[in-house]
Amino acid sequence: MTYLVTGVAGFIGFHVAQKLLQRGERVVGFDNLNDYYAVALKRARLDALKPHHNSFRFVECDIADAAAIRAAVSNERITKIVHLAAQAGVRYSIDHPEPYAATNLTGHLNMLELARHTDTLDRMVYASSSSVYGGNTKLPFSEDDPVEKPVSLYAATKRADELMSISYSHLYDLPLVGLRFFTVYGPWGRPDMALWKFAKAIMENRPIPVFNHGKMQRDFTYIEDIVAGVLATVDAVPKKSLDEGHRLYNIGNNQPEELMHLIECLERELGLEAVKEMLPMQPGDVHATYADITRIADDYGFKPTTSLEAGIAKFVRWFKDTNAVRY
Ligand SMILES: NC(=O)c1ccc[n+]([C@@H]2O[C@H](COP(=O)([O-])OP(=O)(O)OC[C@H]3O[C@@H](n4cnc5c(N)ncnc54)[C@H](O)[C@@H]3O)[C@@H](O)[C@H]2O)c1
Repeated sequence: MTYLVTGVAGFIGFHVAQKLLQRGERVVGFDNLNDYYAVALKRARLDALKPHHNSFRFVECDIADAAAIRAAVSNERITKIVHLAAQAGVRYSIDHPEPYAATNLTGHLNMLELARHTDTLDRMVYASSSSVYGGNTKLPFSEDDPVEKPVSLYAATKRADELMSISYSHLYDLPLVGLRFFTVYGPWGRPDMALWKFAKAIMENRPIPVFNHGKMQRDFTYIEDIVAGVLATVDAVPKKSLDEGHRLYNIGNNQPEELMHLIECLERELGLEAVKEMLPMQPGDVHATYADITRIADDYGFKPTTSLEAGIAKFVRWFKDTNAVRY
């Protein structure tokens, strides 16, 4: 069985590929190694996959380039696609809209086209985001809630991905699963995300910006729980069949945590006190995100098991051991 993982040098893609390889699967990984954040970190993740060189093939390619994708898989028999490559980040999309269109719109369309023309394909799972819920105030966020008012371009492209997928599934009878991730964290994480930025700033004794005075709530989801959920949806036979071809799921921790609590956990694990700079909300940000995970629990038995305290302890240990502060 061959899995194609896009965004394989990224945070979630790396972990998914690693788990698949440890399990003995063959993995083809795509990534364009762009410099949205430290390329050295992306390369270090790929290095960590090197022990599996017999079953892992890395292709440096841009998913916005349809011809490059076709050439890369021309000799492969892809059974499963885990499509995670994206231009991520809510704030970056304010000043840099172009990569969101190229990767998240054209790139997603190219992956749907690849799925459509791959006769051996069993299923494609792709990444959406909790940001599609925009400024919704009804909590927890449920897949049945309205998602017509994205408050960032990033969110708009992720919602567009879902809509394109629904149409492709309908038109070409494609089995597709969209996962709305809620703030993921853990070892090998992303330097543009709050947890990493805070850890780095605390270690360097720089002030940390605490937006909305630390009262923002996020559903922090530990990477191992996310990987378990991704693999369950790509592998397991769902209790409810993919009759309608396309299914959307929240994948989160179902446990909202205040930003201030996260900072306290970090301070404890690092053994240092943070210098906090209290600030108002940022444009495009939302007060709270918190997942209703009933649907994915019912269909795939998804159940996150890592508490924020345990997850942050593992993150900080990795952060220190690998001297990640250099990225
Ligand atoms: N990490 C989270 O908390 C979170 C939350 C919501 C949604 N998501 C979504 O999950 C997916 C994975 O996120 P992540 O945290 O691993 O992000 P990431 O940025 O670490 O990984 C994405 C990878 O995709 C690659 N990529 C970007 N554009 C590409 C292109 N045009 N062609 C080929 N590769 C390209 C990047 O180089 C990167 O390595 C993304 O779709 C993201 O939008 C993540």
